[in-house]
Amino acid sequence: MNLPIIVTIDGPAGTGKSSAASELAMRLGFDMLDTGAMYRAVALLSIESAIDPADEAALAVAMDRSQLSVDFSSRPPAIQLNGRNLHERIRDADVTQIVSLIASHHEVRVRLVQAQREVAAQHERLVTEGRDQGSVVFPDATVRIWLDARAEVRAHRRSEELRLRGEQVDEARVLAEIIARDASDRGRSEGPLRKPVGADSIDTSNLSFAAVVDDLERLVRRRLHEANVGCGCGGGA
Ligand code: DC
Repeated sequence: MNLPIIVTIDGPAGTGKSSAASELAMRLGFDMLDTGAMYRAVALLSIESAIDPADEAALAVAMDRSQLSVDFSSRPPAIQLNGRNLHERIRDADVTQIVSLIASHHEVRVRLVQAQREVAAQHERLVTEGRDQGSVVFPDATVRIWLDARAEVRAHRRSEELRLRGEQVDEARVLAEIIARDASDRGRSEGPLRKPVGADSIDTSNLSFAAVVDDLERLVRRRLHEANVGCGCGGGA
């Protein structure tokens, strides 16, 4: 019998985590969970239900009345609220503006941490990506990785993404927002953004996307081999 394998990838915004995690999962034949999308879905719930994003108790009630799920049959897996696929709506500016505040609430985090553990219990080969996956949610994960990059590089990447979406971009402002969001994610008492103790680090500042995924794949296969864990994912691990 194969034992469950969880690979966690954490790090600040703009390191290329989501795309790299998605590509890594595909190469290994694993499922992939984007936990930032879950926080974004709760932010959208607050907007659509006209709940003040600072009102933690009202958000908790709304979450308990709603069904947040992940449809693993689409690629990449799609986040759903009450059975509705939220698509790219969760990436819009109004959601991005309030999501850090939403993610600072204890009542929100306990619910999403539980939902993430439920997903892991049903997906025995999982790459999960976020801010607290290796430190809080899955501290015993088989492989825990921290992805980082200089703030200027992350701001440039985020600006390019926005330009591709047809938006006008002031890169200096994007940099200021990234620095502010990092400080807020690092400084909060609930699930703060920090490198998990003992995690492997990769700095993506000077690496192409393909090189990041290659490094991740090599690292994961090496760690699985060292841990004597067979993943059935080819290539020797
Ligand atoms: O990765 P992202 O930009 O989609 O994340 C959205 C927000 O959710 C961001 O402010 C960090 C927060 N987040 C978190 O607190 N914990 C996670 N596991 C994932 C995301």
